[in-house]
Amino acid sequence: MLDSPAKINLTLRVLGRRPDGYHDLDTWFQEVSLCDRIEFRPATQFSVAFGGTYSNVPEDNLVSRASRILAGHLQIQLSGKVFVHKEIPLGGGLGGGSSNAAATLLGLSRLWGAAIDPDSLNGLAAALGSDCPFFLRGGLARGTGRGEVLEAKTGAVAGTILLVIPPFGVSTARAFEKAQFHLTSNDKNAILGSCANSFDEAQVYPRALFNDLEPAVFAEYPELQTIRDRLVRTGAVESLLSGSGSTVFGIFENVRDAQAAASKFEPPLRTHICRGIARHRGFDS
Ligand code: C5P
Repeated sequence: MLDSPAKINLTLRVLGRRPDGYHDLDTWFQEVSLCDRIEFRPATQFSVAFGGTYSNVPEDNLVSRASRILAGHLQIQLSGKVFVHKEIPLGGGLGGGSSNAAATLLGLSRLWGAAIDPDSLNGLAAALGSDCPFFLRGGLARGTGRGEVLEAKTGAVAGTILLVIPPFGVSTARAFEKAQFHLTSNDKNAILGSCANSFDEAQVYPRALFNDLEPAVFAEYPELQTIRDRLVRTGAVESLLSGSGSTVFGIFENVRDAQAAASKFEPPLRTHICRGIARHRGFDS
């Protein structure tokens, strides 16, 4: 059984569009304690099944794709029974699919007793999703490139995190397509320099969160801006759209304040109180 945690982005700068259609980013990923759980059991016949709050996962999902790509790389027959207990919403900007894919690479290589070097594992993860390599190590990390070039950081963001989860998802591809960036290379260097130090020794409350995907996503879904404004009004130290959304998070000084704020949001919005987690797994350590 492996935990497969969600993430939030504490910062997200979109630096520009690349020739391969992706965007160069500068982002700080923070794993949080909202987790899916994945069981890997031996079985001759290979199967993947989903249960839990968000079990409505499409047929072509990242767990199945990660399993196939790993078996292909190792040149072995697919086997085993994979069961994913899903508590991370789909299309919520919380990286659930990528996290599940990373956990599947780790869990199945263990189940199959297969040794795989860290570079190959990273390569497989990057092929599955831009934020998938982050979940191989977890914790707090700065991501550049399309998100897959990682600098691991110690510690975790302080405070209690309240996730406000709308009943719909946002397309990541569309959010990037509509993102505004008018940066010169001088601007980019200045941003890269300033982001580098943002959350070192992250046991402090962040007060400089930003997400370049917010303006385009808020323009299309004004209700997400309303959630962010309400989080600030109810005492969040900071509040931001996570990744491309639709989840909006607030960081509070303590659990009591987060609970008081959570009680202000009603269905169909869901809330989840969690915290940032420090690096907890390392395939290469
Ligand atoms: O890498 P992933 O499959 O998670 O990305 C989903 C979509 O989000 C990509 O197809 C691309 O349109 C967009 N994206 C991007 N730049 C990134 C990451 C994602 O344009 N750095």
